[in-house]
Amino acid sequence: MDIDTEMVPVIRELWRLGFTTTACCQDVGEATAGVRAQRDTPLGYGGDGFIAYHRGYALVKMPTTDAQRLATLLADTEAFGDRIRRPWSVGSWRMNVPLEPEGPSAEARLHFPRTQIPELVAALRWLSASVVSAGSYGSGMERTSGAGIQAYYAESAEQLARVYESISFESVHEALLDLLPDAPARVLDVGAGTGRDAAALAGRGFSVDAVEPVAELRRLAARLHSDAGVTWREGALPDLHSVQGPYDVVLLSAVWMHLSPEDRPIAMQRLAGLLVPGGTLLITLRRGEPPVDRRMFDIPPEEVAGHGAEVGLTLLRIVDEGADRLGREAVRWNSVALRKEQG
Ligand SMILES: C[S@@+](CC[C@H](N)C(=O)[O-])C[C@H]1O[C@@H](n2cnc3c(N)ncnc32)[C@H](O)[C@@H]1O
Repeated sequence: MDIDTEMVPVIRELWRLGFTTTACCQDVGEATAGVRAQRDTPLGYGGDGFIAYHRGYALVKMPTTDAQRLATLLADTEAFGDRIRRPWSVGSWRMNVPLEPEGPSAEARLHFPRTQIPELVAALRWLSASVVSAGSYGSGMERTSGAGIQAYYAESAEQLARVYESISFESVHEALLDLLPDAPARVLDVGAGTGRDAAALAGRGFSVDAVEPVAELRRLAARLHSDAGVTWREGALPDLHSVQGPYDVVLLSAVWMHLSPEDRPIAMQRLAGLLVPGGTLLITLRRGEPPVDRRMFDIPPEEVAGHGAEVGLTLLRIVDEGADRLGREAVRWNSVALRKEQG
């Protein structure tokens, strides 16, 4: 099977989600025109209309049941909802199952604008994080439910807001406060939840972007901290496609332990790329037996430091935070501070 290079990450992510693909192409119009140009009977392969209609459109062929499941998943994402649901919307997908004399083909064809490939990869990675089925990562330290992590946060948003907002940024991150630069500086809060930390950092005079994948939490954060001056964005690790940086500080408070082993090095590289030289990455880790109601891993701080070292981040500090500030007996916390080397 030939795979165009732009399609490699798409196919990889589809396979990671358990889909079967049978063919793909990054630009059906371009490919058809190319084949036609090499043939002596040009009109025998792809007419002008066919080529014009398909130019700039990528294709994935997959079993119809897989295509149906993919369409269902993508229809629930912010980026692809309209493109999947509304055939007439800007950038909409052209999805079909050819009717053959014996009946409908067993394979569906999904055509979509080639320019959407990076966004599609990001959406598929996000789906991997939210629709993980039990055991797919095979780690002994993992506990997972079919519901997935984002579902847990979406369903529990209001209740979580009461819990998260009951403690202060200063008390949660006491051991890291001295690493904050002088304001004004640019700060990114990744997995910002209900916005407690982002709002407090903005209150300290920083220019703050807050990224949160769960729409319910983003809405709550924007409502609870409407005067904070924080910019709230959708996005998820490992891609974080919605932010550009650079930032002086990137904070991940209680987020890293949700990332799969495969995603962690990719996420660390992305975070390093978002930091200015000399910038600081602050990561807090929930430790102990992971709960059963969301995907979580027990990740030692040394592993985080190791991933950081691979992408030019120097370990500043590992803190054993000890007891949970919300009083949960089985939970303890570590913090890891890393710095991007100068020049
Ligand atoms: C335990 S909450 C922490 C919220 C907030 N940072 C705090 O300390 O209060 C974990 C947060 O990580 C977010 N999250 C989960 N997976 C993520 C990912 N792949 N990228 C970014 N955020 C993610 C969840 O949506 C949730 O808001």
